[in-house]
Amino acid sequence: MNDWIKKDLKYNWHPYTQMKDCRQMPPLFIERAKGFKLYDKTGNFYYDTISSWWCNIHGHSHPKITAAISRQAKQLDHVLFAGFTHRGAIELSERLVDLAPVNLKRVFYSDNGSTAVETALKMSFQYWQNNNQKKKKLFLALDRGYHGDTIGAMSVSGVDLFNRVFKPLFYQTVKLPSPYCYRCPMGKTKAACRLDCLKPLETVLKDRHQEICAFILEPLLMAAGGMIVYPKEYLVKAAELTKKYKVHLILDEVATGFGRTGRMFSADHVSVDPDFMCLSKGLTSGTLPLSVTLTTDKIYEAFYADYQDKKTFYHGHTYTANPIACAAAKASLDIFNEDDIFKSLPAKIKFFQKQLEKFRDLDFVGDVRSLGLVGAIELVKNKKTKAVLPFQRRIGIEIYKKGLNQHLILRPLGNVIYFYLPLCVTKQEIKFVLDKSYQIIESLTI
Ligand SMILES: Cc1ncc(COP(=O)(O)O)c(C=O)c1O
Repeated sequence: MNDWIKKDLKYNWHPYTQMKDCRQMPPLFIERAKGFKLYDKTGNFYYDTISSWWCNIHGHSHPKITAAISRQAKQLDHVLFAGFTHRGAIELSERLVDLAPVNLKRVFYSDNGSTAVETALKMSFQYWQNNNQKKKKLFLALDRGYHGDTIGAMSVSGVDLFNRVFKPLFYQTVKLPSPYCYRCPMGKTKAACRLDCLKPLETVLKDRHQEICAFILEPLLMAAGGMIVYPKEYLVKAAELTKKYKVHLILDEVATGFGRTGRMFSADHVSVDPDFMCLSKGLTSGTLPLSVTLTTDKIYEAFYADYQDKKTFYHGHTYTANPIACAAAKASLDIFNEDDIFKSLPAKIKFFQKQLEKFRDLDFVGDVRSLGLVGAIELVKNKKTKAVLPFQRRIGIEIYKKGLNQHLILRPLGNVIYFYLPLCVTKQEIKFVLDKSYQIIESLTI
């Protein structure tokens, strides 16, 4: 263990980490990053196949983004966003409204995915309060959904391992079965699927819509819950149901936004008009913390009143709309245009998904799923029975260690190995990453 790591472990408490494990498997010390690669002190590199927790879009240290950050830091580093404004936030909001689903016209800034979600939940709740619908206190969400780690965001998340200890603190939420086709909660096969998993949503909306504020979900890809890709029809029908029963629809695009799924937003694969959309991660191409909660004029207007009416949204964060982060986000959007990203993307996606399909042949691969440049491989004990690998087997850790020896960061989600590739990835890089990953999974004995 070198001196840097010793000091790290003396002071730092890492997220989502059992710190005791760090004695055997200390954190990797990264010195610099460029494009698709992270470099350690010795110059050894690792392909950042998970885009540093799904936020990197155009590659690390992109010169246009770093230049924009540097320019902005010299001009205006930060100013509070209550009673003040600045060019970066105004221009970025205008561009985001232009890109987002057509009914989303208002932009509320915060600084990470959880706060973007927390904002949407609180806005939805207060919207109903402001409109005198005092019974509405309940949120709907999906099992295996993930929306962040603040109390509200955890309340609507459905990954038990992360959240169970905090349950006594949660907002009132009803969890619904997720459209997890490989392990269909309704026990159906793909051929027999009639989207029965929507029925519990319909029932709860029908019976309790007067108590329900909003339904929140990740559009088409449930990321942290196991990279579950679900049918477009589910999203379309769920949106129709929320509209029918006058319940808000919150689309959490924190992980799926900015091209990752092949379109600017995952919602663009279908035609839906949400009441809220949450964005973060890829917003600044993974350079600085920033997030937005987009909403409609209708919701905005429910808060627009005389001061003494007490309809104000008393919520905000110190670094709201930080000018440097806004500059990074604008530079990232410029790259989409200047480099015509959506022109080259379909060929890369096709290549990636075709290569990924090869994993189906392997012994312990139960399912292969993908959307855009996100792909996942679910490992199982038995292909036929879909028997789950025991937690104690810690197969993901074995794969992670083997990956590092092959220049790959294969950080698993339980028994799911996944790729969350930046849009700058080349076909050669895709091939290298998938070939090496294939060899690693092929070499496993279970
Ligand atoms: C869909 C989704 N929503 C919200 C969050 C929370 O974002 P953050 O970690 O920035 O708080 C995440 C993080 O992974 C996410 O995947």
